[in-house]
Amino acid sequence: MNTIPALNDAGAKAQFPIPANVFAETVVSVKHFTDRLFAFRITRPQSFRFRSGEFVMIGLPNAEKPVFRAYSVASPAWDDELEFFSIKVPDGPLTSHLQKIQVGDTVIMRQKPTGTLVLDALTPGKRLFMISTGTGIAPFASLLRDPDTYEKFEQVYLTHTCRDIAELTYGQELVSALKNDPLIGELTGGRVTLYNSTTREASACMGRITALIGSGKFYSDLGIEPLDPQTDRVMICGSMHMLKDVKEMAEGLGFVEGSLSQPDSFVVERAFVG
Ligand code: A2P
Repeated sequence: MNTIPALNDAGAKAQFPIPANVFAETVVSVKHFTDRLFAFRITRPQSFRFRSGEFVMIGLPNAEKPVFRAYSVASPAWDDELEFFSIKVPDGPLTSHLQKIQVGDTVIMRQKPTGTLVLDALTPGKRLFMISTGTGIAPFASLLRDPDTYEKFEQVYLTHTCRDIAELTYGQELVSALKNDPLIGELTGGRVTLYNSTTREASACMGRITALIGSGKFYSDLGIEPLDPQTDRVMICGSMHMLKDVKEMAEGLGFVEGSLSQPDSFVVERAFVG
């Protein structure tokens, strides 16, 4: 069994054994966006394979029995690092410690990825709508950088709604970096549209995505045809309440939930917190 430096409750380095059957990876970068949101990248184990859009269980080696939480991988399947986008919950069993990680620290990860927000759970279509709130954008950050997304769909619409403007930065930087990406920049050109709104701070577009779609403002703002299950596919990721409401809306429009065993026109995944 390996013994490595780890963060204890006080944030100081302490020795704890790495549990069996987990990867122990090194933090390569950390970026704080707001006092509620941050992103970090870790080394990727050579043997770790996942589908873009899937999640893994992440923890810290800061206890005999570490707490693990589900995190969508935000980087694409071809990347040689793994990126995650996280909330900071002040008393969260994991995130209250995770938010203090620094370059060189160790993050532990269970070995098996899983999840429903994968392209293979959707039948072919023309337009792909990714509907996200808060850290629910993470799996879409992965899928937006995956060439398979553009092989399967002609146009991709990413909606990201947050409480305030600063929380939108991660998604805005992600989308603006797409065009300069040496691997997929050319493929994504003119095919990705980001639609932002805020709910608790005045901005150019305000309101929950359910209200914006429901009123038709979403379509008129973008100058696009309404959602149509014949041609469109929908992926949804956000808080429990958001999922419930957006799912109901999608079903009301005639969309049917798909899975790997039975692909169809929409899929949902909870954005995990803790
Ligand atoms: P609101 O500010 O009106 O609650 P959070 O940071 O709490 O996860 O929320 C992220 C975003 O998701 C917020 O803008 C929030 O709006 C929005 N939201 C919360 N619940 C729902 C819901 N049921 N349907 C659509 N959007 C929601």
